[in-house]
Amino acid sequence: MTQNLADTSRPAADATAHEAGAGASRGWWRDAVIYQVYPRSFADSNGDGMGDLPGIRSRLPYLRDLGVDAVWLSPFYASPQADAGYDVADYRAVDPMFGTLLDADALIRDAHALGLRIIVDLVPNHSSDQHEWFQRALREGPASPLRDRYHFRPGKGENGELPPNDWESIFGGPAWTRSENPDGTPGDWYLHLFAPEQPDFNWENPAVADEFRSILRFWLDMGVDGFRIDVAHGLVKAPGLPDIGGGDQLKLLGNDVMPFFDQDGVHEIYRSWRKILDEYPGQRIGVAEAWTPTVQRTANYVRPDELHQAFNFQYLGTSWEAAELRGVIDLSLDSMRPVDAPTTWVLSNHDVTRHATRFANEPGLGTQIRTPGDRGLGLRRARAATLLMLALPGSAYLYQGEELGLPDVTDLPDEVRQDPSFFRQAGQDGYRDGCRVPIPWSGTEAPYGFGPTAGGPSWLPQPAEWAELSVEAQTGDPTSTLELYRSALAVRREQADLGAGTEVEWLDSPAGTLAFRRGSFVCTVNTTAEPVRIPAPGRLLLSSADAVVDGGETVLAPDSTDWWAV
Ligand code: NOJ
Repeated sequence: MTQNLADTSRPAADATAHEAGAGASRGWWRDAVIYQVYPRSFADSNGDGMGDLPGIRSRLPYLRDLGVDAVWLSPFYASPQADAGYDVADYRAVDPMFGTLLDADALIRDAHALGLRIIVDLVPNHSSDQHEWFQRALREGPASPLRDRYHFRPGKGENGELPPNDWESIFGGPAWTRSENPDGTPGDWYLHLFAPEQPDFNWENPAVADEFRSILRFWLDMGVDGFRIDVAHGLVKAPGLPDIGGGDQLKLLGNDVMPFFDQDGVHEIYRSWRKILDEYPGQRIGVAEAWTPTVQRTANYVRPDELHQAFNFQYLGTSWEAAELRGVIDLSLDSMRPVDAPTTWVLSNHDVTRHATRFANEPGLGTQIRTPGDRGLGLRRARAATLLMLALPGSAYLYQGEELGLPDVTDLPDEVRQDPSFFRQAGQDGYRDGCRVPIPWSGTEAPYGFGPTAGGPSWLPQPAEWAELSVEAQTGDPTSTLELYRSALAVRREQADLGAGTEVEWLDSPAGTLAFRRGSFVCTVNTTAEPVRIPAPGRLLLSSADAVVDGGETVLAPDSTDWWAV
C-alpha cells in the first residue's frame, strides 16, 4: 500500500508548541487531534500486568512523534475498579495501581514540555459505593443527611420489596439496589444507572455541585488542560423520578428523551463549570460524553457559555457507506454551526468494538460485536475511514491502538472478562474488554513491551498475532497503519485547510464514492468493493491503499481514501 508520500518530520517541541496550532487564536481545541489513553492498557512500568502513569509518561515522546495535540486519560483515580475506574472512591487521589499524585504531576509537566495537552476524565454522575459519602450514608442509616447526596427512596410493595420505579440500568437489570439498614434489616433503595457499585449523585443537593466545582479546581490547579465529562447527559433526573412505563428501555436510549438522560437542567451545571474553566489561562476545555436523541440536542451542550466539544456518536455509529457518511457529515456540521462549536469525529473508544472489527462485519450489528469478520476488509476500511475523518473540519479523537490497526479481541475467554455489564443480563454493553486489551509495543513474546519483562503478565491476554502489529514491527514500514497515521497527522499539521473551518464543498463523484474540497485540498473516498476511475483531482498527497494515478486519471482502490493537493 502506497502512502508515505509526505515528509513526516515534525519540528522539535518547545514551550511555544503548547500554544501553537492552526486554530490557536480561536481555540486550540477547534481542530485538535486528541488521543485517548486507557491507562490500564497503555504501558505497565512496574510489571504487575496493569498499565500505570509512569508507563504513560515514558511513552509521551511516542505520542508527540505520532503527531497528536492532546491526550485524554480515562480515569486513574482511587477506585475499587468495579467499572474499570469509572467508579471513583476519591476524586482527588490516584489509585495506587496507577501511581501517585506526584506521578500525575510529572506526567502533566512532561506532556506540556513536549507540546502535548492533557485532558482528564471526570465522573460526576455517580461515585463508587466505596466513596466516603456513600459509606457514611449507609452507616448512619435513614436519618443521615448524606443520603440526600444520592437518590435513596423507600421501595414499593407491602414491605418495600419492589424498586421505587421501573428504571433499568444501562448495564442490565433494575437501576435500583436495596440497601441494608445499620441493624441488618432491609432498607431503602438507591439509584444506579450503571452498576450497583456506582450510586448516582443527587445533583439537586448543593453539596454535590460544590464538591465538583472544587474537584474541577483541584485538577485545573494541577495543570490539566481540560475534562472529558462522563455521562454528561445524566446528572439531572426528571422531578419525582417518574416511571417510564414499558420494558426494553435500552432500545429507547438515544431515540427518546428519558427521565434520567438529557434533562434541560444539566445545562445550568455546565454554565457554572464554563465560568471556572475560563478563569484559568491557556484555554481549558470541557468535552461532553452526551448521548442524546438528536445531534441538535447534542449541540445544546456546546453553546458558547457551556462546554467546548461533545462526542459525535452518530458518526461513530455510521456504516462504511458513502451516502450515509455524507448524510451524517452534513448533519453534524449543520447542527454545530448555529452554536459556533467545532464538530468532533470519533471512530473508536474504550466502550465500543474497534472500528477495524466493526467494518469487518456486516453493518447494523451495533457496537458490541463478537465475531472477527473479514479482517483484511476491516483494516482496509478502517484505514480509509481514518483518512476521511482526519480530512474533516473540526476535532478528531483517536483511541489507543487504532494507529496500529488493532482489531477487537472477540474470543476472550469468559473467565478473564472484567466488564461489569458482561455479568449482568441484557445490558447495553458487555463485550467492552475486547477493545481494552493492552497494546503491543515491541518484541515477539507477550506482553509485547506493554510490561517490562518478556513473558510477564498483562491484565487481559494479548493474541499471538499482535507481535506483528507492535509499534516496533510497524515503525519504518511505509505500508503499515502506524506510518499511515504518522503521515496523515504530519500532513494535517502542515495543511492549515485540514481541520479548520466548518464547511466541506462536495464535488460530483460516482455512486459509492465521495469527493470534497477544503481550500487547496481534496479528499476522495471509495466505499465500494470495486476500483473506480475518476479524473485525478490534483497531486496525490496520501493514500490509504494503492491509488494509481495514470495521466489525468486515477483509479480509486476499493475501500480507500486519498488526499490530494489542488
Ligand atoms: C461511560 C464510560 O465511557 C464507560 O466506560 C462507563 O462504563 C460509563 N460511562 C459509566 O461511567
